[in-house]
Amino acid sequence: MQEIISKLSQEISEVTISTKGQLEDFKLKYLVRKGLIAQLFDQMKTLPKAEKPLAGKNLNQLKSLAETKYNDIAKSLENGASDRKAEVDLTLPGRHAFLGAEHPVQKILSEMKDIFIAMGFNQAEGPEIERDDYNFTLLNFPPDHPARDMQDTFFIRKDSQSEDVVLRTHTSPVQIRVMMEQKPPIRVICPGKVYRNEAISPRSYCVFHQLEGLYINKNVTFADLKATIYSFAKQMFGSNVQLQFRPSFFPFTEPSAEVDITCYLCGGKGCRVCKHTGWLEILGCGMVHPNVLRNCNIDPEVYTGFAFGMGIERTALLRYKVGDIRLFYENDLRMLEQFI
Ligand code: PHE
Repeated sequence: MQEIISKLSQEISEVTISTKGQLEDFKLKYLVRKGLIAQLFDQMKTLPKAEKPLAGKNLNQLKSLAETKYNDIAKSLENGASDRKAEVDLTLPGRHAFLGAEHPVQKILSEMKDIFIAMGFNQAEGPEIERDDYNFTLLNFPPDHPARDMQDTFFIRKDSQSEDVVLRTHTSPVQIRVMMEQKPPIRVICPGKVYRNEAISPRSYCVFHQLEGLYINKNVTFADLKATIYSFAKQMFGSNVQLQFRPSFFPFTEPSAEVDITCYLCGGKGCRVCKHTGWLEILGCGMVHPNVLRNCNIDPEVYTGFAFGMGIERTALLRYKVGDIRLFYENDLRMLEQFI
């Protein structure tokens, strides 16, 4: 008995306890009613009478050693916890969690895409660094034709030995790629970034986004084009919107038109944004030129098609009442956070 008591007392003095869990284990091992010390008290009853007083004294010492250790550690763990609590200033405001937000230009683009995808258009994408012939020649821009100047081009490579390479000035070359790879019927939208070497101002920037569309099938007419644009405009700008088609020119469409909607800020009455005309131009469109179809090995005697193209930033500027297009490209969180 004596031996067991001194072994336990050494064990108790040496054990290290640093968590509440360990303290609880300590209590269960030594101090509860069925614990080691209580068991020894039970055994003591069976000892010869002469040995009982010493054993009792030693056991009592062991018990108080365990109890003191338990109480001291319990206290210090408690204090530690309250010390830590004191380090936290509960009156401080919470830390702001930053949520990501969709960029306003992407928001408008996704809305537009959803409308056309619901009409049955597929999405096609192509490179931003594009061959000159895909960007111009195959789209029926004759060499040195002034129409190339309509789109101030950034040239990546321009020499007489090799093929010219440009930053695409519109997403129409994606439509060339699709027509070269697929047989009609073709129904695609081509969203993406385009580049033009324009004077930078609050209204125009050297990079912007476009969404162009193309539908080629047998018997496609200008009426189909109008119906598609009407349906899109009503979903995008509201069911009261009115449209006007104005004759225009693009080398790759014939006939061509530009489409205006009633200004959705003043409802057509005239305001600063629509320059008091009541109309806002939203897109260019037309029937695909037979030369373009021929360039892509599609027989214009069998198939016809329409195409349209629009800028995204213009709508984003108006929708979100942003005064300067450059704010879309500065990645200033104070601006972008407003769209969370
Ligand atoms: N590609 C033309 C542009 O960028 C837009 C357009 C597309 C016009 C299709 C007509 C038909 O200006």
